[in-house]
Amino acid sequence: MCGIVGYVGPKDAAPIILEGLHRLEYRGYDSAGIAVMNRNGRVDIRREVGKLQNLDKLVTQAPISGHIGIGHTRWATHGKPTRYNAHPHSDPEKDVVLVHNGIVENFLTLREELEAEGVRFASETDTEVIVHLIDRLLHAGYPLEKAVREALRRLEGASAVVLMSRHHPDTLIAARLGNAGGVVIGLGEGENYVASDIPAILPYTRRMVFLENRQAAVVRPTEVHYFNLDTGEPFTPEVHTIPWDPLAAAKGEYKHFMQKEIFEQPQAVTDTLRGRVNFATGEVTLENLHITPEEAKQISRIYIVACGTSYYAGLVGKYIIERIARIPVEVDYGSEFRYRDPLLQPTDVVLAISQSGETVDTLAALEEARNKGIRKWAIVNVVGSQAARVSDGVIYMQAGPEIGVASTKAFVTSVVDEYLLALYLAQQRGILTREEALRHARALAQLPKLVGDTLAMVDEVTHDLAARYYRARNFLYLGRGIHYPIALEGALKLKEISYIHAEGYPAGEMKHGPIALIDEDMPVVALVPRDHVYDKMISQVEQVKARDGKVIAIANQGDDLIAQKADDVIWVPQTEELLQPILSVIPCQLFAYHIAVRRGTDVDQPRNLAKSVTVE
Ligand code: AGP
Repeated sequence: MCGIVGYVGPKDAAPIILEGLHRLEYRGYDSAGIAVMNRNGRVDIRREVGKLQNLDKLVTQAPISGHIGIGHTRWATHGKPTRYNAHPHSDPEKDVVLVHNGIVENFLTLREELEAEGVRFASETDTEVIVHLIDRLLHAGYPLEKAVREALRRLEGASAVVLMSRHHPDTLIAARLGNAGGVVIGLGEGENYVASDIPAILPYTRRMVFLENRQAAVVRPTEVHYFNLDTGEPFTPEVHTIPWDPLAAAKGEYKHFMQKEIFEQPQAVTDTLRGRVNFATGEVTLENLHITPEEAKQISRIYIVACGTSYYAGLVGKYIIERIARIPVEVDYGSEFRYRDPLLQPTDVVLAISQSGETVDTLAALEEARNKGIRKWAIVNVVGSQAARVSDGVIYMQAGPEIGVASTKAFVTSVVDEYLLALYLAQQRGILTREEALRHARALAQLPKLVGDTLAMVDEVTHDLAARYYRARNFLYLGRGIHYPIALEGALKLKEISYIHAEGYPAGEMKHGPIALIDEDMPVVALVPRDHVYDKMISQVEQVKARDGKVIAIANQGDDLIAQKADDVIWVPQTEELLQPILSVIPCQLFAYHIAVRRGTDVDQPRNLAKSVTVE
């Protein structure tokens, strides 16, 4: 997914923009570029393929300077990763210089229209049509803002653009169409910023505005004004103050962001719980949910919709919410829900789970809920993200920035949020006794420490196991009940950062096919907590062993039986059955991490992946 950074103010723009692009590297890209303009309207552009270091080197060899500029990291959609396809794109006179995130779905029609008028294209990108549409209107005498409005109305598909013009050496224009990743306006003192995501500009300001669909901003050093792209009407947006500490977005003493975020989980869980649980009474408050006891009692079903790891957190949430709040829960992939015309009832709720809050398939599910007049909630991590803004109620993960592409602390804090939601709904529906509320509150109070204890217990053993298993070509992860989603999540963690094929499976299904896969070359990770299906899991382990399979069990301390059955055991503490998955997932995270490090893959930015998938 592309990254965008813009600056206008008294400072030299290039270093600010390049540093901002580095902070967006986690989004995945294959080329990058920058354009700066000086006060005389002279525009210099530098573009390069590959990693940002290549662009840094180019700018060092051929310096540029100016007080206003835009930069871009490109994840190719139309046109190969080349210098001439890299952004920024401009017309030959630099009347329009522009960067873009998203896809112009009707770009071929527009390109033909423009070429028929003699426009010559310098790239294969869809982005370049936007440049020439605006440029054509400028030549027809339109003022810049109106030219931008009229040009963007021609575009189909989701797009985020930031542009400047040599005729306006103190002005950036940013605009957002649909859900093509965010457009964030950073408000400084005598200077202002634009970016596609918070970390790029967080070191400079915490005051941010998030553009919504079909909104634009005119950004100058000492003023920003906003208008609606369709009507041109001005509006005053909400200004958010981002609580994250800029340093938190740096790796600190860790080797990778993923490792740092795994070890931040005790603090993340503490922050997720902060201010939401009265540990003396067991009462839970979720301030942003906006639902009365009467409305809570009427809820007929909750549809959890998410993608990837967030989807697996939703599967865990199904067990928690159904058990505690006694509300039926369905869990769906965003990419499936949006096209299956779900039979939603007026008293249903759609609950989206999304770390980034920008995943296009998940946003589409919220749009489906909106179209059907259904209440929509979101569990998200990024303050002011699209999912947060379009929902009727929001439960923030409060996990702090998650930079590593592989989601870890967001998964854990999503499950904690679902647990809080279940308790809150049970309270509102009057089905939670004081004793039960206190029991749950006590379990939550112990959770951050148990997460910390688990990290201390499993880091070295997973590191050692990784040394023995990192050459395996396949893995099977098995779990039952609330640990079946942990088998899925464990397999995803391994495959997405180590590139080893791994499959999560409900253990009870092994006899219906997958057991044919078992031999000495198919290691099996089995989740065997002391819960109500423990005996079933023990017999599952025996079946695998009977076929010369290797079993790595994740089990509760003091379980002598599993120690006799499995080849290796990773011990974790025992807690409330519905919270146990949070402890069991930690060895899965670290096992995948240590294997990936041994295999030398790009742990924080695995091949082909992006942190937030904002295109279908
Ligand atoms: C998980 O490790 C992956 N990075 C991916 O599956 C991710 O969970 C998915 O793309 C959903 O992202 P979101 O939570 O930001 O919506």
